[in-house]
Amino acid sequence: MSMNKVSWQSPSNIALVKYWGKKSGQIPANASISFTLDSCHTRTTVEWEQIEADGAPFHFEIFVDGEEAPDFRPKIETFFQRTAELLPFLPSVRMRIDTSNSFPHSSGIASSASGLSALSLCMGDIALQMGAVDEEGFERFCSILSRLGSGSASRSVYGGLVVWGQHKDIPGSNDSFAIPYPHHVEHVFSTYRDTVLLVEVGQKSVSSTKGHGLMNGHAFAEARFKQAEENMSEMIQHLQTGDLHHFGELVEAEALTLHAMMMTSRPGYMLFRPNTIEILEKVRTFRTEEKVPVHFTLDAGANVHLLYPASAEQKVHTFVEQELKQYCKDGRYIHDSVGGGPKRLTE
Ligand code: PMV
Repeated sequence: MSMNKVSWQSPSNIALVKYWGKKSGQIPANASISFTLDSCHTRTTVEWEQIEADGAPFHFEIFVDGEEAPDFRPKIETFFQRTAELLPFLPSVRMRIDTSNSFPHSSGIASSASGLSALSLCMGDIALQMGAVDEEGFERFCSILSRLGSGSASRSVYGGLVVWGQHKDIPGSNDSFAIPYPHHVEHVFSTYRDTVLLVEVGQKSVSSTKGHGLMNGHAFAEARFKQAEENMSEMIQHLQTGDLHHFGELVEAEALTLHAMMMTSRPGYMLFRPNTIEILEKVRTFRTEEKVPVHFTLDAGANVHLLYPASAEQKVHTFVEQELKQYCKDGRYIHDSVGGGPKRLTE
């Protein structure tokens, strides 16, 4: 029997209004919106063949950067357990999964978003070939699969601005899958850049699964979910008008709130590092003094994302080199841009 092959490249994304807290079945406690990135991506190839089902729910081998990676098995097994009903052919295929990231694993860049969306797109492609989904429903199907792997991954299935989670002001928004942001967006946002400052490269001190769990029974949970709902409505206004000052103020508030939620959990987690704080303060000073519209945001880690329009690129690049690089691990940072999206790499 010959091996079939599917291959996808899928980017990471950076949330502007954050998802933090979930209900069972990977249902978000609030709607979120993100920019899909471009250079920070995962490439995944699945070679597969049909086999006689032998009672096992799935058969796969996983290779990361060309090397067998047993450490990655548990996450992928969980993914296949959660998606078994959507992928009824799973017990009767054998797969070799090859994956590699364009950025360091567990760096705080959402490798789960790009990784799980790339795998979901591959599985969606196999489902397409097996007749389990049609072309029309393909992206939505892949977004559902991605969500079951890692919530934020549901948003990486589309390029541009993407919303996941039901919100009253966003028609078509849904808790089960992400959708492309449907409202008017001022042109400036399509030129946005994201520079990721790698303060820490290594294992995160709290997994996002654990982090979401900490919102159950959190003293401020209800207030946070209500605030996120309001922040989504406010974000719609700023995206519409291109008010970069208020857009950035909101993005920074969301990032700090995410970390405030972690710090005020029981137990509380502190994912900032001293260099994270140095960077945040420098960014604010630079913005005020140089009048450059650059704002920071954070994921659940120590690294800092700088968001700015293309018109500020030169000034921000110089600022990063001269004043921020020293706070990055081994001086490392990544310049990326928004507007990327997943790409099928096979014919
Ligand atoms: O997709 P998860 O379960 O790893 O959650 C990630 C959540 C944040 O990245 C912190 C915020 C977001 O909306 O992406």
